[in-house]
Amino acid sequence: MDRITVIGAGNVGATCANVIAHKNLTKEVVLVDIKEGVAEGKALDIWQTSAINNFDTRVVGVTNDYLRTKGSGIVVITSGIPRKPGMSRDDLIKTNASIIMDVTEKVIKYSPEAIVIVVSNPLDVMTHVAWKAANKPSRKVFGMAGILDTGRYIAFLANALDVSPKDIQALLLGGHGDSMVPLRRYTSVKGIPITELLGKDEIDKIVDRTRKGGGELVNLMGTSAWYAPGAAAAQMAESIVDDQKRLFPVCARLNGEYGIKDLYIGVPVKLGKNGIEEIIELNLNQREHKMLMDSADQVRGVSNILEGMNLFGA
Ligand code: NAI
Ligand code: 2OP
Repeated sequence: MDRITVIGAGNVGATCANVIAHKNLTKEVVLVDIKEGVAEGKALDIWQTSAINNFDTRVVGVTNDYLRTKGSGIVVITSGIPRKPGMSRDDLIKTNASIIMDVTEKVIKYSPEAIVIVVSNPLDVMTHVAWKAANKPSRKVFGMAGILDTGRYIAFLANALDVSPKDIQALLLGGHGDSMVPLRRYTSVKGIPITELLGKDEIDKIVDRTRKGGGELVNLMGTSAWYAPGAAAAQMAESIVDDQKRLFPVCARLNGEYGIKDLYIGVPVKLGKNGIEEIIELNLNQREHKMLMDSADQVRGVSNILEGMNLFGA
């Protein structure tokens, strides 16, 4: 791929650009920010690691110069404000919706073929905003949250079991919030069901910590996480660039799958060169299905705030 653009050169965007460069996914990464000098400086800093970290991907930073992003194959959107202590993801909606709409329209003007990966919060609703603004098929506009949330779940399980995270397989559904649905029935270590390795109480605690995983880091650092979110978005880009067809939990627009219509929410999908190549429908039991419906209701609640803003006109 010739070019990948990352919008927002803050913590998540700069980390994502750094991982994309390390993976040599593209000839050039363009970092865009609204604050003069920030993207330029971070891009230069990352590029100056190329000889040390052995990559060729050129890293370029610009202030609001969308012409420089022309012809991007993938656009990762991380612009916006992050969550501060005491602030829910939903509190971010008003500010971030306007930002996402604005940057998506600008970037798609110069890269109409781009696949768009949204990271900004509240994730599920911001992905919807980007989809509206991009005016593209929903298989080309989707959001990153599930890889991060699954990563947290796996990290906690690896600690509890004292095993390599590489041997843990897990899936997670739902919106990116405290109502997300880590699926213990689909969690295993080298094929051994998690329920054979840990007691119910211990799994419950890990599931609960996963759901509140974003808040735990906000409370520790005074702002939200960036290493895992940036790496997760880069992993999605990798699956697209290399047409890996990997299965990841991704925030995708459902059109009847799982009994949900016209809503962006996290579900397992196959990611390849065309973006979302398939939405995988799991055979959920009653309890899992109810939890997914509760999570969908939570996402709809945030969407309602957005509708009240009349962002897309009448
Ligand atoms: P940050 O504050 O470090 O970076 C955001 C950057 O966006 C800033 O540099 C800011 O100048 C820039 N920006 C603001 N308006 C812009 C515009 N109109 N055009 C271009 N750039 C603009 O924030 P951080 O930590 O990087 O987080 C970014 C977003 O990602 C937040 O909304 C955060 O809540 C979200 N997030 C989502 C996660 C997920 O799992 N989906 C995980 C972690 C963060
Ligand atoms: C996270 O989960 C806050 O969405 C951000 O780290």
